Amino acid sequence: MLPRLAVDLRIARAGHAGYSHKMKTVIEPFRIKTVEPIKFTHRVERKTLIREAHYNPFLLRAEDVIIDLLTDSGTSAMSSEAWGAMMRGDESYAGARSWYRFRDTVKDIFGFEQVIPTHQGRAAEHILFSVMVRPGSIVPNNTHFDTTRANVEFVGGTPVDLVCAEADDLDSDHPFKGNMDTAALEKLVADIGPDNIPVIMVTVTNNSGGGQPVSMANVREISRIARAASIPFYIDACRFAENSHFIKQREPGYENTPTIDIAREMFSYADGCTMSAKKDAFGNIGGFLCTNDAELAQQERNILILTEGFPTYGGLAGRDLEAIAVGLREILDEHYLDYRLFSNAYVVNHLREASIPVMAPAGGHAVYLDARRFLPHIEPLQFPGQALAVELYIEAGIRAVEIGTVMFGADPKTGEEHPARLDLLRLAIPRRVYTQSHMDYVLEAIGLVWERRESIRGMKIVRAPKYLRHFTAEFDWV
Ligand code: F0G
Repeated sequence: MLPRLAVDLRIARAGHAGYSHKMKTVIEPFRIKTVEPIKFTHRVERKTLIREAHYNPFLLRAEDVIIDLLTDSGTSAMSSEAWGAMMRGDESYAGARSWYRFRDTVKDIFGFEQVIPTHQGRAAEHILFSVMVRPGSIVPNNTHFDTTRANVEFVGGTPVDLVCAEADDLDSDHPFKGNMDTAALEKLVADIGPDNIPVIMVTVTNNSGGGQPVSMANVREISRIARAASIPFYIDACRFAENSHFIKQREPGYENTPTIDIAREMFSYADGCTMSAKKDAFGNIGGFLCTNDAELAQQERNILILTEGFPTYGGLAGRDLEAIAVGLREILDEHYLDYRLFSNAYVVNHLREASIPVMAPAGGHAVYLDARRFLPHIEPLQFPGQALAVELYIEAGIRAVEIGTVMFGADPKTGEEHPARLDLLRLAIPRRVYTQSHMDYVLEAIGLVWERRESIRGMKIVRAPKYLRHFTAEFDWV
């Protein structure tokens, strides 16, 4: 029997509105009205299923997964309010009511003058970089997400990751390991000149760096450097609410600021943002691009019409716009955000107590197991993260994604294999989908794999495409 969530509440705020001042247990801040049954499989069956999927969890049928932690993107549970709003969706081609509701909500929270709807985050990135980035451009970020990186490269730019040094130490409890190394940014701007840097970005939270937050002080400093050099500063805002709530919990001076105002302040330092509404807007689909530059927005809308749709729907149905407008309000509910960050910390803290190697402190949306230390007898070129993903599926039907040498190990030009910086297994937690008992099941399963870790073998790639191989590669045991 595992201790209840309350045991881990290092920062429980007694008297937080709605809780009795004596209660410490954090509960899921929702009741469940619609359910989706889980299909159960047996261990023996799963061995066959994963073999038939060539040991790549992406190639499994979702219904053969018991707990699906592949991504937190587009997998959230919508509320009855959002489903209700969808029925009101105005499907007019131009100037629909739903568009105005969406636009006004985005403007109220993000504060930018121009709002461009897209079908998801990467479409916003593609439009932004098509307009701003030229061959030879350099784009700094704390850590580019893989689609962001690919979109910069697609138009001939070079993405540069400038995450702070603490990010490399998986055990460090530094509160803002997603921060950009601003000294390195300043040096980059001085060395190559502002003319070669069309945009500076920061990703909140830093997904590829473990879902770690970025501090307000860091955002302010990046903004200062960008403005001094007249370079536009954009925020990749996918998990903006989780990041804002981390600032509330961890950055002195923000304890009593409403999270929505923290978000507003954060965006006030930027010139625009890209957003995937599949994360911190509870959307199953959707995204947007914002800017304060009307001329730039005009160029962006020209591409939008070509690739996504008319500027008042941009690749989305009216009902999607409605759901996102509701989701953007709900995501900033502080009871929800308390629960969201606490429930992730619950899993991470239990793993740490059991001495199971995991990235610390807990990030916002996912748990990152350190596969290299979990399976030290498997060398990086035999993909310890992939082996761990396969074993976790066999053990308990849990699906997670390798972020390591499978994803980053092959040089796209030469085809040569190199160990990635880290070998991680990401267990991303969909929003409002799984309860604490599901997480206890996950903890138990990881514990069982941990007990038999020495018998786990490495893997080899049997077949792989040249680019983004992790999605479709086929594996076998060494
Ligand atoms: N930026 C970040 C930080 C992301 O995490 C993602 C998506 C995107 C941009 C692209 O947004 O999927 O709507 O096109 N991340 C998902 C994940 C896929 O699993 O982490 P999108």
